[in-house]
Amino acid sequence: MCGIVGAVAERNITAVLVEGLKRLEYRGYDSAGVALINDAGVLDRRRRVGKVSELDAALAADPLPGRVGIAHTRWATHGAPSERNAHPHFSGNQLAVVHNGIIENHEALREELKGFGYTFSSDTDTEVIVHLLDHTLKTQPDLAAALKIAVKQLHGAYGLAVISAKQPDRILAARSGSPLVIGLGLGENFLASDQLALRQVTDRFMYLEEGDIAEITRDSVQIWDVSGAPVTREQVQYHEGAEAADKGEFRHFMLKEIHEQPSVVQRTLEGRLGEDHVLVQAFGPQAAEIFAKAKNIQIVACGTSYHAGMVARYWLEELAGIPCQIEVASEFRYRKVVVQPDTLFVSISQSGETADTLAALRNAKDLSPGNGGYLASLAICNVGISSLVRESDLTLLTLAGPEIGVASTKAFTTQLVALMLLTLALGRVRGTLEAKVEAELVAELRRLPTRLGEALAMDHVVEKVSEHFAEKHHTLFLGRGAQYPVAMEGALKLKEISYIHAEAYPAGELKHGPLALVDADMPVVTVAPNNELLEKLKSNLQEVRARGGELIVFADEQAAMSNGEGTHVVNMPHIHDALAPILYTIPLQLLSYYVAVLKGTDVDQPRNLAKSVTVE
Ligand code: F6R
Repeated sequence: MCGIVGAVAERNITAVLVEGLKRLEYRGYDSAGVALINDAGVLDRRRRVGKVSELDAALAADPLPGRVGIAHTRWATHGAPSERNAHPHFSGNQLAVVHNGIIENHEALREELKGFGYTFSSDTDTEVIVHLLDHTLKTQPDLAAALKIAVKQLHGAYGLAVISAKQPDRILAARSGSPLVIGLGLGENFLASDQLALRQVTDRFMYLEEGDIAEITRDSVQIWDVSGAPVTREQVQYHEGAEAADKGEFRHFMLKEIHEQPSVVQRTLEGRLGEDHVLVQAFGPQAAEIFAKAKNIQIVACGTSYHAGMVARYWLEELAGIPCQIEVASEFRYRKVVVQPDTLFVSISQSGETADTLAALRNAKDLSPGNGGYLASLAICNVGISSLVRESDLTLLTLAGPEIGVASTKAFTTQLVALMLLTLALGRVRGTLEAKVEAELVAELRRLPTRLGEALAMDHVVEKVSEHFAEKHHTLFLGRGAQYPVAMEGALKLKEISYIHAEAYPAGELKHGPLALVDADMPVVTVAPNNELLEKLKSNLQEVRARGGELIVFADEQAAMSNGEGTHVVNMPHIHDALAPILYTIPLQLLSYYVAVLKGTDVDQPRNLAKSVTVE
């Protein structure tokens, strides 16, 4: 993922910019660059492919001092990773820009700008922004005013920063679909795509909102909203404890991470959605071409990540109409597979270092394309600098941030979000998904963080329900359709941290065996969104009640299910059926958490388990 850092100060800010880039390194990148205006008013840059340390070494060998500057780590979306494609991009020797996101109409703008005499020195979508702004400055010389005009012509997603040698005392910023935050200092101010990049220089921040344009000088910050009206944005003071490596107000990392889900889901969506569709380039420069060729999907993963893949199989077949197979990596890696032509190999992993998943990817790559091999490989991963990401052709990062609790929570829901983006992108590129369905789901995705917040507000209700489990030794989890893998994930969470034996079944399988286990000592947990399988699920639940089994049902508020003897119903906010697996995961995570707390187990570091399984 790309990262932006900017600074305007009275001191030389090169080191601040480089340190900011280093703090963004964990998000993954393929090249880095910095542009500064020196005291003689000259704009200059250094760019390097590879690590920020390469850029740092280049700056040590050939220093670039300045008091105004912008810097960037690039994750290629248009054009290969190379020095000429690395940011900052220039128009002439006066204007520089760094950009996160994707400009969808870059080809049309490129042609138009060529007609005005501009020559392009990169293959990026970003370069159109800087020439477009330069062109606009010819009729509107004020940088802020010109930027307001220029961004109106951009379609897609952007967070961008601009400096100009003609107005060398300021940075301009614009946000639409990609986050930006201003860091407030004393006699100096900063800009970044993530406040983490600025923590070494300030603890006061101001987040830009959608459509905002900002002008930042050493001692002033001016912001205009999407309508062009001047606005102020709230100042937020950062406190130690809001930090990933700190539990803050929460008793355990797991609970903190469960509660982070609305914000990390939001972050995972940022920069990946156009107005009514998914931005395919978010998967990498070759994504559109590869997706257009894909006729099958093979997903491989372990544990919780495998459950995310199982949900995705329902989505990929139902929404994108593409056949999908899924297998646990530890099995896949040791068998001879028969690969259907044009199969996209998708690996899912929080860490990107899981030995079995990596081995499966390597085996898949060893099969040569055109000779029993895969079309290409895509990694859905939370760690940008992991082996899985480095070795895959395409990547979509989940932006869950560091997950400390051994039991995976926020990594799972962000994986689901990433897989829904993949489903929609594949459906559109292959022409198998109607535009109106995609638009509807994109709108639902935008509402998802709010829905997740509503589900989290039921925390205490779920805590109460957990009391039914503390003395139990076995539990069944039931689900139907895409809720079956959600039930599997619920069972895995419960066994991992409370050590209660838990099994998940598709609800329709109950009478084919597991019903024999049901009695008053076997609680049955089920998730019941209001979909076409609801009535069937209700009959399955009757089968449980008839054998004296206690039921805990997380049901859609519109599902008309009510409490009764031995039946505890927790009403869930209504949600589009396709996104229900993401929402219904929340109460199951909370349930296992509170059961574990009641049982007094080590929630964050359950016995016998490791966070990252890098050995077989
Ligand atoms: C369960 C859990 C594990 C991991 C599995 C794969 O809570 O965390 O099942 O999901 O070990 O790990 P990653 O996703 O890092 O490949």
